[in-house]
Amino acid sequence: MAVSVSLDELLGDQVRRDPYPFYARLHRLGEVAALRPTDPHALVVHGYDAVNRVLRDPVFRVLGSEYLDRAGIRWRQHAVTRILQTSMLNAGAGDHLRARQLFSQALTPRRVAALEPAILRITDGLLDELAEAGADGRPVDFMAAFALRLPSDVVGELLGVPEADRAWFPSRVRTFDAVLEIGRRSMREIRAANDAAGELTGYFTELLAARRARPHDDLVSALVAIRDRDPEQLTADELLANLIIMYNAGFRTTANLLGNGLALLVERPDALAVLRADPTLAASYVEEILRFEPPVHFALRYAGHDTEVGGLPVAAGRTVVVLTGAANRDPRRFADPDSFDPSRVDNRHLAFSAGPHYCLGAALARAEGRLVLPRLLDRFPDLTLAAAPGDRRQLMLRGYDRLPVRLTAPVPPL
Ligand code: HEM
Repeated sequence: MAVSVSLDELLGDQVRRDPYPFYARLHRLGEVAALRPTDPHALVVHGYDAVNRVLRDPVFRVLGSEYLDRAGIRWRQHAVTRILQTSMLNAGAGDHLRARQLFSQALTPRRVAALEPAILRITDGLLDELAEAGADGRPVDFMAAFALRLPSDVVGELLGVPEADRAWFPSRVRTFDAVLEIGRRSMREIRAANDAAGELTGYFTELLAARRARPHDDLVSALVAIRDRDPEQLTADELLANLIIMYNAGFRTTANLLGNGLALLVERPDALAVLRADPTLAASYVEEILRFEPPVHFALRYAGHDTEVGGLPVAAGRTVVVLTGAANRDPRRFADPDSFDPSRVDNRHLAFSAGPHYCLGAALARAEGRLVLPRLLDRFPDLTLAAAPGDRRQLMLRGYDRLPVRLTAPVPPL
């Protein structure tokens, strides 16, 4: 008989704070585990090979509008779910491919390489501000003062959002993101996310109109031109939804890569010293941070027809929880998976997912991590945690709400 686990446990406080002992237990059970018949999802898929297969196998689909309609979910009532369902994150195969092809042109490795000087400029500007906020050894919150601002400014640069408007985004995008977490959401969170969705839609509607009237040399102008030339390529709603999703997908994920990464390194002075001594190792550090403490721990998929995973049946229409965070710690795939080892070879983790929805911004996120971490460590050689980092309780966008650091030793009183 199949071993079953409980969704309540996965979503419980203990696992949310530290999911890794639970993941280790799942790995001892095999590649997949059945959930209880009363749970809304059929299975938890946690083994590396099984996760990789589910993400790539066309029988498993994202929870698009067709699925939500069949499940009787009234997603059209909410501005936030209208955007999520219209964006490529949840679009059905044909619509997905159309939008993805268009937006992927903005995120090719060549385009990302061209953005590097801007990433460095934004980094240095924010490091100056961080230095000021943390002068004389005053504790400063790394998340608010740096990690949550940098990715938002970088996406702003990528799209062509004017610099003066960029500081407006982080709080809206954060409120919008709250609905992405697995489990129940309060009406207050949903209402706030809808308001944020409305504000973001309003902003981009105006920006698109401004760029249509006076095109600039930026992505928003290029997308307006493509749409005006060939409206079949992208509907007006798809254009808006995908612009907003670029902000959301690239925001807290990258902020958490920086926050999780910094906390990990400060807690491991030996690994930190190696990176400080040789910044060319930054790319492998980023990969290991992503494997070890991924900013996203799971995805959901449903079966398009009756199928099986790891020998367990999944009926057509049933959903599975795909635990990429657990796959990254699968001992069958990674030797000594619970140790942080930036010198790992063949570190093909699943932090960016796999298959058709593989993260479109992976090259950009990698560049941000690779450029920013050494620069931060170089600028503040005495950086330490000013207090224990707060709890992380989210599995979808897993990171710290606050990460108090001291950039220099406190100045002793006279
Ligand atoms: C460390 C940072 C990041 C992580 C860990 C991350 C992770 C992910 C994951 C796991 C998915 C797939 C979800 C699924 O399979 O259902 C995804 C999709 C996506 N990501 Fe990222 N992401 C990061 C940064 C970025 C950045 C910087 C951008 C762009 C500015 C971006 C844009 C996207 C987009 C547009 C999608 C949707 C792709 C599709 O559905 O075809 N991401 N990301």
